[in-house]
Amino acid sequence: MEIKKIFVAGAGLMGGGIAQVCAQAGYHVTMRDISDEILGKSLKAISWSAGKFVEKGKVKGTVDEIMARLNLTTDLSAAADADFVFEAEMYIDEKYGKEAVNLIENILANEERQLHCYEEMITERLRVTDEETE
Ligand SMILES: NC(=O)c1ccc[n+]([C@@H]2O[C@H](COP(=O)([O-])OP(=O)(O)OC[C@H]3O[C@@H](n4cnc5c(N)ncnc54)[C@H](O)[C@@H]3O)[C@@H](O)[C@H]2O)c1
Repeated sequence: MEIKKIFVAGAGLMGGGIAQVCAQAGYHVTMRDISDEILGKSLKAISWSAGKFVEKGKVKGTVDEIMARLNLTTDLSAAADADFVFEAEMYIDEKYGKEAVNLIENILANEERQLHCYEEMITERLRVTDEETE
């Protein structure tokens, strides 16, 4: 299956790093977090770090080209047409924790999509699931 669109849930240390590596490798990435402020901070960090890779000749293209492959959103539905999803959220509270669990369960439930999923939040997921069943 050809991967055209990557979705990264969470724009923190892990999510930002994953999104950066994917964009540097030439993939179009949509990164989602819960606020524009968090996304903006992450974008700044990615741009700075990508600049270092470009300076050292470790990646192809310019910083602008790499950054142009990154889309930011607070909208969870942007995951719907992704070919590959990375989960990199940190459990914050019940609302966002449940949302993260639902993201994976809803997407994986759609077998036709044959979506690949790499999950970084095993511990948080188990904790939320436990709380839900109590
Ligand atoms: N940092 C590491 O070295 C590392 C290593 C292995 C695994 N992990 C795991 O990766 C996950 C993220 O870690 P991190 O270091 O990036 O944390 P972080 O705190 O830097 O970032 C987590 C981000 O997730 C966001 N978030 C929370 N709920 C969300 C939701 N429902 N949708 C979208 N975004 C949401 C938060 O706003 C935050 O920006 C954690 O589960 C952690 O256990 C981290």
